[in-house]
Amino acid sequence: MTSPKITLSTAQLWERRYRNQPSTSLPDNEILRLQMAHHSVRSYRSDPIPEGFLEIGIAAASSAATSSNLQTWSVVAVKDQEKRNRLAELAGGQVYIAQAPVFLAWVVDLSRLERVAQREGHSAEALDYAESFLMGTFDTGIAAQNAVVAFESLGLGTVYIGGLRNHPEEVAALLELPERTIAVVGMCVGYPTDNAAGDIKPRLAQDVVLHHEQYEHHQEAERVEAYNQRADAYQQEQGLSSRRWTETVSMRVAKAASLGGRHVMRHVLQRLGFPLD
Ligand SMILES: Cc1cc2nc3c(=O)[nH]c(=O)nc-3n(C[C@H](O)[C@H](O)[C@H](O)COP(=O)(O)O)c2cc1C
Repeated sequence: MTSPKITLSTAQLWERRYRNQPSTSLPDNEILRLQMAHHSVRSYRSDPIPEGFLEIGIAAASSAATSSNLQTWSVVAVKDQEKRNRLAELAGGQVYIAQAPVFLAWVVDLSRLERVAQREGHSAEALDYAESFLMGTFDTGIAAQNAVVAFESLGLGTVYIGGLRNHPEEVAALLELPERTIAVVGMCVGYPTDNAAGDIKPRLAQDVVLHHEQYEHHQEAERVEAYNQRADAYQQEQGLSSRRWTETVSMRVAKAASLGGRHVMRHVLQRLGFPLD
């Protein structure tokens, strides 16, 4: 099984990603090309993913670093059509969840450590603290991203589904998640349709996100404005409505209401068994 051949060099992919020229010569290999060519996929063929693909994706996830080797995540693979239909609804009507043959619910899982501690005859007080939840969230995220790279290396497409946090308690009930767990993000996995829209989406330039020795944002306004132009050019190329990135993200952070009902998350987390002390 060979990886999809990405014909663009890392320098060419840099130009697509940042829409500027690299200021230095760049190393180039297949893994870098794959990572730099990432784009989310929101249109899937219905055919199943081949045998062993799910397992190798999860093996890649398991191979990610994990805080203190605590391994505080689980993943629920959902193939059942009715369950995916329901998850699509719960995630705000994201139809590709019902379309893609596999949906992965990535779960911050402190419940397993509690059970382990109990069986060892210990309490699990440390799990009550916000630090444990934060650690679990980070570990879950990096595991999931390893899986994305693995799946993309096999020619599959993916899209993360943060919409899974629209109704965390309903999702927990549907997937029979125990206390001290939350499905923090979902992921569609499958073969993209031929007409699956999606291309390399420009990101903020490195002079905005990469700081040397200390954080510095003196020229941020003009640099971010330059990104507005690049992001808008991408929108137009994709036949999408023209919009300034700064306006879009400002609307997204303007009010608690822009969280789409997730402003109650701390209380939801507490009900799911994360006291966040
Ligand atoms: C944690 C997380 C949650 C996301 N949730 C959704 C989602 O619910 N629906 C969706 O269509 N895309 C979702 N995305 C995908 C982002 O919209 C996408 O990564 C971003 O627009 C950049 O596009 P690209 O991945 O094609 O480069 C999510 C991405 C992340 C990392």
